[in-house]
Amino acid sequence: MSEIDSLKAQLESLQSEALESFALAASLSELQQLRVNYLGKKGALTEVLKGVGKLPPQERPVIGQHVNATKTALAAALDGCEASLAVKAKAERIEAERIDVTLPGRSSTSGALHPVQQGLDEMTAIFSQMGFAVAEGPEIENEFHNFDALNIPPEHPARAMHDTFFVKEFAEGEQSEPMLLRTHTSPVQIRAMKRFLEEGHEPPLAVVAPGRVYRCDYDVTHSPMFHQVEVFKVDRDVSMAHLKGVLKHFLSTYFEKEVSIRLRPHYFPFTEPSAEVDIGCVFCAGKGCRICKGSGWIEVLGSGMIHPNVLRSVGIDAEAFSGFAFGLGVERLVMLKKGIPDLRLFFENDVRFLRRMGS
Ligand code: DAH
Repeated sequence: MSEIDSLKAQLESLQSEALESFALAASLSELQQLRVNYLGKKGALTEVLKGVGKLPPQERPVIGQHVNATKTALAAALDGCEASLAVKAKAERIEAERIDVTLPGRSSTSGALHPVQQGLDEMTAIFSQMGFAVAEGPEIENEFHNFDALNIPPEHPARAMHDTFFVKEFAEGEQSEPMLLRTHTSPVQIRAMKRFLEEGHEPPLAVVAPGRVYRCDYDVTHSPMFHQVEVFKVDRDVSMAHLKGVLKHFLSTYFEKEVSIRLRPHYFPFTEPSAEVDIGCVFCAGKGCRICKGSGWIEVLGSGMIHPNVLRSVGIDAEAFSGFAFGLGVERLVMLKKGIPDLRLFFENDVRFLRRMGS
């Protein structure tokens, strides 16, 4: 075979081999590499060109045309493959990033305060707006604050009725004394009055004390831990009329409607006289229903005029000053407002219930 024919043959086989490998390239970088291998300065085509020098001068342009044609063909093929790979890559990306716009969205749920906490906050805010200062006391109390100072001496039957949880706890200093989980928020009356006097103030004093209390009791209407709001006011000439006015305003505001109230004589050691307070049934408007057991009235809290012994226990002149006080069960009022049938729902923390109650 003549030199020129051999070069032509070399070019042809180089071209067909190149086109085949271009078609097989799976990525743009692979194609780039092939471009270098065939068309680069040290590429296969350059290698063939080296043979051109051995040809007689008149044959060189002929083979030069062949080389150029091959070069153009390879470059065009590379461009074509590159373009189709780019299209393929784009299609693949679109497929990979495809989203189903018909799928339901993922909504985020927002949290809410526990219904009891909501109730506590709402009640405290109503009293706050009426001018009562918010006070808190410890949940682990001593017998003095929980009982003695509230006119409940050691042998008093009311102590037994409080179903007290006692805890072994040491008070400040060396001396130990029996401690207990407070059975009501009334001890905050004592603490708030003492603090107030220690700070050098004189009545008037008006306080709202929300908080947790504990009793050893558990059924549909009792839980070993529950919440109370204690409210009291001490001043000159405080009377039951003030008590009734405050109660009526509070209860009507809380229930968001005019509620009627009635005071029934009762007994509490720390008040004299004492009264239990009923509201006109919020479900049947006093006509009589299952909730109010046909009476038209629902008992909601205990109240009275602060017993002179209680005022004296903190050093307030019981001749010059008087006060009213009341304590209400938070769960009970929330149940009435929201129509919740069982107290235990509050503490089981079933999210379906909590979600429904979330304001
Ligand atoms: N401390 C009482 C209880 O838990 C409730 C109570 C009744 C509070 C009468 C008062 C009051 O302040 O005057 O059963």
